[in-house]
Amino acid sequence: MQSIRKQLISNYVAVALFTVLLLESMFMVVITQYYLGGVERVLVNHAETAANFFNRYADAGDIYTKSNYIFENIDIEEKALVEVLDLNGRVVIDSTGSSTGEIVTTGDFIQALSGRMGTWRGRSEMDELITAVSAPIYDDNNIVGVLRYVSSLEPTYKVIIQYMMVTALVGVVVICVAFVFGRAMSKRILIPIQELVRVTGEVAQGNYKVTAIKYHNDEIGQLVDAVNIMTKEITRADQAKNEFISSISHELRTPLTSIKGWAETLQDMKDDPDVTEEGLRIIGKETDRLIILVNDLLDFSKLQAHRITLKKEEFSIKHLLEDIHNQFAVRCHQEKIKMTVLTDNKESWVFADYNRLKQVFINIVDNAMKFTAGRPKAEIKISSQVLDDQIVMIIEDNGSGISPEDLKRVKEKFYKGSSNKSGTGLGLSIASEIMELHGGKMLIDSTQGKGTKVVLVMPYFYELQQNYED
Ligand SMILES: Nc1ncnc2c1ncn2[C@@H]1O[C@H](COP(=O)(O)OP(=O)(O)OP(=O)(O)O)[C@@H](O)[C@H]1O
Ligand SMILES: [Mg+2]
Repeated sequence: MQSIRKQLISNYVAVALFTVLLLESMFMVVITQYYLGGVERVLVNHAETAANFFNRYADAGDIYTKSNYIFENIDIEEKALVEVLDLNGRVVIDSTGSSTGEIVTTGDFIQALSGRMGTWRGRSEMDELITAVSAPIYDDNNIVGVLRYVSSLEPTYKVIIQYMMVTALVGVVVICVAFVFGRAMSKRILIPIQELVRVTGEVAQGNYKVTAIKYHNDEIGQLVDAVNIMTKEITRADQAKNEFISSISHELRTPLTSIKGWAETLQDMKDDPDVTEEGLRIIGKETDRLIILVNDLLDFSKLQAHRITLKKEEFSIKHLLEDIHNQFAVRCHQEKIKMTVLTDNKESWVFADYNRLKQVFINIVDNAMKFTAGRPKAEIKISSQVLDDQIVMIIEDNGSGISPEDLKRVKEKFYKGSSNKSGTGLGLSIASEIMELHGGKMLIDSTQGKGTKVVLVMPYFYELQQNYED
């Protein structure tokens, strides 16, 4: 496996190398053409001007006659060797006088013989880089010889080579910078990725209590945030699961222990009618508790799977609240809690699932009783009123209240906060979901040490003006 870091660095260097090579070769081609072309252009100008002049003014005759005139009148170009060639390419005369008799067969000469300006680039007999320009010499419209300018390209090539060296140096510097930059960039990208690999590896091993360090506020930073939220959620879900298992085991064990204990007692003391009656009463009560628990769990799984369907009917909220009052009357009496139910002087009708709404009230009132029992002047007030097109139902207690930290989370499933009372932590989450299924909502307000207020809001069906006293 090739590491991302190596890939990033080699990509950076490859791109830089390609760009540098491309730009530098283009630059070198332009420079070479410019300099060599420049030398050739100068020679062509000279050759053209001189040939035109001689073709017009030189004495008539063969090339030998003309060559004398040419060399008497020619403007000798310092850096160039000037030669006059006959039609065989033999040097008739030149500006140094040393190469006379030499035979020239290069491309420029051949082109000049065909009446055109000829240019050629190559190596001399001394292995020197040269360029030559040839122009035809006419006598009465017949080519009788060639005027040839030869110049060394060595100084020009030296200049070009200097350019090449400077350009290559610049190229090396650019590639080094690309390498350093590539390393820095790869480090910037790689360290956060390595951190994510570490954290996800830990999570894969089952250690959820890890947090990834966020290095930069970029896309990888966002990924780090998402991973951190995910690990927190997993930790929370894991904790909730553990709490749920321990609370459900406790919830199951308490009534089961009681039932088992009473069953054994009843076996031993079959003949005592008082014991039998008390035993059966407790077994019945504990069985009810178990049924409620199992129903809660069933409801919860149905709500999770969105399998709860409401059996809606028209009923009066006043009727529902009376039902609740009656259901809790005995328990209120036993636990010395005052319960008052207050509705405005109207029958408020709703189109809702009676049993599900009753379940919401049972869950909330059960909480109110659990957390109010035993406190001085324990009281639970239940009220309902119509506001605009909503029906608002309030269950208020003066119990222990909920701490601000717990208040934020009490609607979460299996969340019991700091409560050590019996329960699975499902009541409020089920109640809240049922209210939402009805197009309503459940709001909770609480002050620790003072009490809790649960507000249920849902659309009402219609209102029947009726005086209670009637
Ligand atoms: N009226 C209240 N007064 C004080 N605390 C409350 C009140 N209602 C709810 N709570 C807090 O909110 C938590 C969640 O309540 P919820 O009804 O969801 O679960 P539970 O009562 O613990 O268990 P379950 O209702 O499933 O038997 C409770 O454990 C308690 O800490
Ligand atoms: Mg509850």
